[in-house]
Amino acid sequence: PKRIFSGMQPTGRLHLGNYLGALKNWVAMQDEDESERIYCVVDMHAVTMPHDAKALPDAVRRVTAAYLAAGLDPEKNVIFAQSAVPAHAELAWILNCVARLGWAERMTQFKDKGGKDRERVSVGLLTYPVLMAADILVYKATHVPVGDDQKQHLELCRDVAARFNRDFGDGEAVFPITEPLIQGPGARIMSLRDGTAKMSKSDPSDNSRINLEDDADTIARKIKKAKTDPEPLPDSIDGLDGRPEASNLVGIFAALTGGSKASVLAEYGGQGFGAFKPALAEVAVEYLAPISDEYRRLIAEPAEIDRILKKGAERARAVAEPVIAEAKAAIGFWG
Ligand code: TYM
Repeated sequence: PKRIFSGMQPTGRLHLGNYLGALKNWVAMQDEDESERIYCVVDMHAVTMPHDAKALPDAVRRVTAAYLAAGLDPEKNVIFAQSAVPAHAELAWILNCVARLGWAERMTQFKDKGGKDRERVSVGLLTYPVLMAADILVYKATHVPVGDDQKQHLELCRDVAARFNRDFGDGEAVFPITEPLIQGPGARIMSLRDGTAKMSKSDPSDNSRINLEDDADTIARKIKKAKTDPEPLPDSIDGLDGRPEASNLVGIFAALTGGSKASVLAEYGGQGFGAFKPALAEVAVEYLAPISDEYRRLIAEPAEIDRILKKGAERARAVAEPVIAEAKAAIGFWG
């Protein structure tokens, strides 16, 4: 059976990249009958970097509200906070002893976030991808829908699962070799100010991204100000080579409307940005304004969100508990 797992960090506000790279695809899959779907807000990952402890519970509620506002149905999907299911931490310890130091040190995200002064970053930042592998494997998830930037972490997850199976599986696979689901023009959304940099929560310029909570005017203004080149749009995708900003805006249009870059260019090829940007702003507002309205309604109801998270944690625990028991037995723990 297919079991889907994914998660997002409660750091900063969710942006269009998070939505088009992940969340929109989660919503699109929720009516598949044959799969089970589990989505987490990863507050344990959020403490690997300096953070505001007092603000973290609300940050978890806000990401949950964004999941719900985007259309993720808590009846059809398990939605919960990572720290509410202790099996994530238990399996992470076991997998920390299976993963090799070299694997963790090779991760580009660790190198980027760790910066130059490695002496001062938390040990948790190094083992971040191992916790991520535990998130996935504690549910024996077979598929993980994410954006392109998580590819390397998911390769580590596959390596950890294979190594555990080989060393402790007694001839049988305890863990699945999970498939990443990285698809479509939304998998890698770039900054609106620089088509070669990823759209990210940590970019100091708010104009570099569209936040899921931005109102219609803000969305339109940011798109109008987005960096472009002076050429009209090409007729085919080959013409986007070497034009990262144009490619990104066409990709955003395609991802929002469920089309492809080629289909967008079939319609807008030959037109300048003076015509394309207002069209893009219109679709962006059309898709995002209902989400941001619903989001604002939901964050005013924290008790309702807590109720959903609590119920989700119970359902998640029921799936994770037999798996952690199996992993502990396989590695030889007493009891
Ligand atoms: P996070 O919180 O950075 O991002 C959440 C999701 O959004 C995607 N994403 C993007 N997609 C397209 N374009 C972008 N510019 C962009 N920016 C972010 C990410 O790929 C991700 O799918 N380590 C993960 C959270 C995590 C997780 C897991 C994910 C923890 N455990 C287990 C899957 C399975 C992270 O920091 O995502």
